Amino acid sequence: DKGQHQHFMAKEIHEQPMVVARAFGAWTSNDRSRIASPAETIDWRSVPRLTIVACGTAHLAGHVAKIWLERIARLPVEIEIASEFRYREPPLPTGGVTLVISQSGETADTLGALRYARAAGQTTLGLVNVTTSTIAREADLALATHAGPEIGVASTKAFTAQLMGLAAFSVMVARERGAIDADGERDAIETLSRVPRLMAETIAQEDRFAALAREIATATSALFLGRGLMYPIALEGALKLKEITYIHAEGYAAGEIKHGPIALVDEATPVIALLPSGDLLEKSLSNIREVAARKGRVAVIGDAEARAELGDEAWRSVAMPRCDPLIQPFAYAVAIQLLAYHAAVARGTDVDQPRNLAKSVTVE
Ligand code: M6R
Repeated sequence: DKGQHQHFMAKEIHEQPMVVARAFGAWTSNDRSRIASPAETIDWRSVPRLTIVACGTAHLAGHVAKIWLERIARLPVEIEIASEFRYREPPLPTGGVTLVISQSGETADTLGALRYARAAGQTTLGLVNVTTSTIAREADLALATHAGPEIGVASTKAFTAQLMGLAAFSVMVARERGAIDADGERDAIETLSRVPRLMAETIAQEDRFAALAREIATATSALFLGRGLMYPIALEGALKLKEITYIHAEGYAAGEIKHGPIALVDEATPVIALLPSGDLLEKSLSNIREVAARKGRVAVIGDAEARAELGDEAWRSVAMPRCDPLIQPFAYAVAIQLLAYHAAVARGTDVDQPRNLAKSVTVE
């Protein structure tokens, strides 16, 4: 049932504050002092490396998690696309852990990757939304995302629920490795508790995203740029846009654009810059200024600081709430979802059932 929404995707975007609140509750102790996870049983101090394997949007959730785990837990992490990983058959470290991420828990390549990792002696974790799925059964430990059934082919709430599970997981691993103390854990939990409201505040900007989306809807090509935690969100923005609008879109690390992609910049190509404030803002601004100087149509999605810095150089800009860097991916994920959704509505495509795509990819 779509409720008052025109599409399941819209309903699922709007459900996200509730979904992430539920996921947050599932991962935290009642007094909010501690992350609870079945993966606590692993001796994380002796784990040499975590390998994360997934496809599509789940892979991009894993990419965000890599950054969190490296930063908060100081754990070496590799992130892999399942279809490459499983056939490359890479050597895996003794005592290593492999985490596969899948909404459906049935994606053939992700399942193949899980089986390869198990056979190679890794401890395996499966973060799945469908808890009765094959991946949930075959992983040594199954972790649930708690998103509820996702109907739209374009993943939205499953992605942000994966992020909540992965953020909590990162904090738990940091604690187990001694990278944070009890106060650090409590602070991180307090920050995560603000995610539902942050996402609701972003959804409250929907009209602004819809207005920008209608302008992007006439483009034949679009670029998404971001650094650090915004790099995987830029990739997800491009994936979401191409998936449901059929506009050609690419995501790039902002610092990489001068190594080739800047040649694509012209007056017809929107460049969507994800610019939260933080350590990387100055670096990103200089990349974006290079685009603007070449008459690129820069659409800034950022908080007040970035928007003030760019001023007239931006073609369009949409305000984002300011928040702790740890939780920026949640807010910017909503932003790129709303952009893709409204661009698809403007183009009149089949939002919930885009051409050539299936919800669960059980072929290799
Ligand atoms: O069920 P899974 O999470 O394993 O699915 C992985 C991808 O097929 C999926 O995320 C796909 O990229 C989505 N349609 C993206 O919106």
